[in-house]
Amino acid sequence: MRLAFFGDVIGRPGREALTTHLPSLRRRLGLEFVVVNAENVASGFGVTEKTAEELFDAGADCLTLGNHSWDQREALTYIDREPRLLRPINYPRLSNAPGRGAYAYDTPSGGRVFVVSVLGRVHMDSLDDPFSAVDHQLESCPLGVGCDALIVDMHCEATSEKMGMGHFCDGRASLVVGTHTHVPTADAQVLPGGTAYQTDAGACADYDSVIGMGKEEAVRRFTTRLPGARHQPATGPATVCGVFVETDPRTGLAIRIEPIRIGGRLMAHVPKLEGVAAE
Ligand SMILES: [Fe+2]
Ligand SMILES: [Fe+2]
Repeated sequence: MRLAFFGDVIGRPGREALTTHLPSLRRRLGLEFVVVNAENVASGFGVTEKTAEELFDAGADCLTLGNHSWDQREALTYIDREPRLLRPINYPRLSNAPGRGAYAYDTPSGGRVFVVSVLGRVHMDSLDDPFSAVDHQLESCPLGVGCDALIVDMHCEATSEKMGMGHFCDGRASLVVGTHTHVPTADAQVLPGGTAYQTDAGACADYDSVIGMGKEEAVRRFTTRLPGARHQPATGPATVCGVFVETDPRTGLAIRIEPIRIGGRLMAHVPKLEGVAAE
């Protein structure tokens, strides 16, 4: 099965780039399932029904969130009506968090893809233990038995915690990919047990920025330490960043992972598939 995961979509420039490129990427790469991190899709902060619908209409099958899940308060009710939208799984039990943190989706060709969203706790406003929460999900829907592909979005700050989650899931997930730091890392690999891994998918954002936000305000805050204007997404053309994964249909484990980068300022990379002409 061919899958793609795209990192945090930042505001209008991110939405415009993803909605421009995703339909042709789906065709070019023969994608059966697409996950997009949407925690910054509404002006850089959270998600609304309208902005989520734009991503679904462009070809996203599932949207994941992160520490910005509830920045737009309508998400607290929207998520209860929209099973394609996932918030992190590891909220404390007593929070009765709305929506879901994991879900199994049926694809048009009869496959089943299980997606888990989880928030790390190193240098984050942490939730419950992400490892035990993910372990519980992997046990509840084993790869190759309960689903044909299993994707974990590890949303966190620390590279080490993301790598730890990759190895923790190795052999039990098709893909573990990091989000939240908004810069694509150059470590795409299939881990020894067969799980595809990249520390951060990158963002769908203008990279003439500070992690997708306007550089002037970000630099001003670093240099003055004084409060000022609200952070706004940088407005130049965005680079769509993500990963492409191909799984072995017999096991659900990965046989290939490659980064995807298209548009904007970053060096382009689109996986080449045999027998498929480049557009
Ligand atoms: Fe983000
Ligand atoms: Fe985040």
